[in-house]
Amino acid sequence: MEFSQSFAAINRAEHRLKEFDCGKPGMNQFIQQFACKHSKLGLSRTMVLPVANLEGDKRLIAACFTLAIATVQGKSLPVKKSLPKYPTPVALLARLAVDLKYQNKRLGEKSLISALRHAARLCDEGLPAYGLILDVLDKDALSFYQRYDIFHQLSDDPMRLFAPMSVLRKI
Ligand SMILES: CC(C)(COP(=O)(O)OP(=O)(O)OC[C@H]1O[C@@H](n2cnc3c(N)ncnc32)[C@H](O)[C@@H]1OP(=O)(O)O)[C@@H](O)C(=O)NCCC(=O)NCCS
Repeated sequence: MEFSQSFAAINRAEHRLKEFDCGKPGMNQFIQQFACKHSKLGLSRTMVLPVANLEGDKRLIAACFTLAIATVQGKSLPVKKSLPKYPTPVALLARLAVDLKYQNKRLGEKSLISALRHAARLCDEGLPAYGLILDVLDKDALSFYQRYDIFHQLSDDPMRLFAPMSVLRKI
């Protein structure tokens, strides 16, 4: 099975949204029903890795990630610097998933790296973010992210992870 080399913005006309199944119903529902709508509204942006398709039909989605903007209280971040009292802007990795058919082929890792690079690029192009946070779906997902030692748990929520932008820029 051939995958595209790069991620593209999700698009109902080009991607087979209804067939995406990563095994987590809430995640599937977001991709199938809300990802395009939220991209148009400017609430989040979902990028997908399509499966190559020689016949020119709509393409299956092998993997995807969703980025958005959020703010956190500086004092909850695992950093030594003292930050202003007002909310700290961060990139939010809102979703990351691989279709069950394509799991265990390193697409989760590829998607994570692409998402982190995408966030760093946006920051360098003028949308400032102190780092990236993500909300871990469950214990299974936590053990996936804990493999990558760039993430640190937030002091007030162990299921919320943070990576500083200075680290993302090196990925
Ligand atoms: C978590 C998920 C993205 C992993 O995707 P994947 O394509 O199967 O993972 P990869 O093949 O890239 O795995 C890379 C490495 O992580 C390991 N890994 C994969 N899932 C793991 C998990 N849940 N816990 C610990 N390690 C995991 C793999 O064994 C592999 O290790 P290796 O380097 O020793 O070979 C995928 O299982 C998924 O979409 N799950 C449902 C949605 C979800 O939970 N998303 C996280 C949202 S917070």
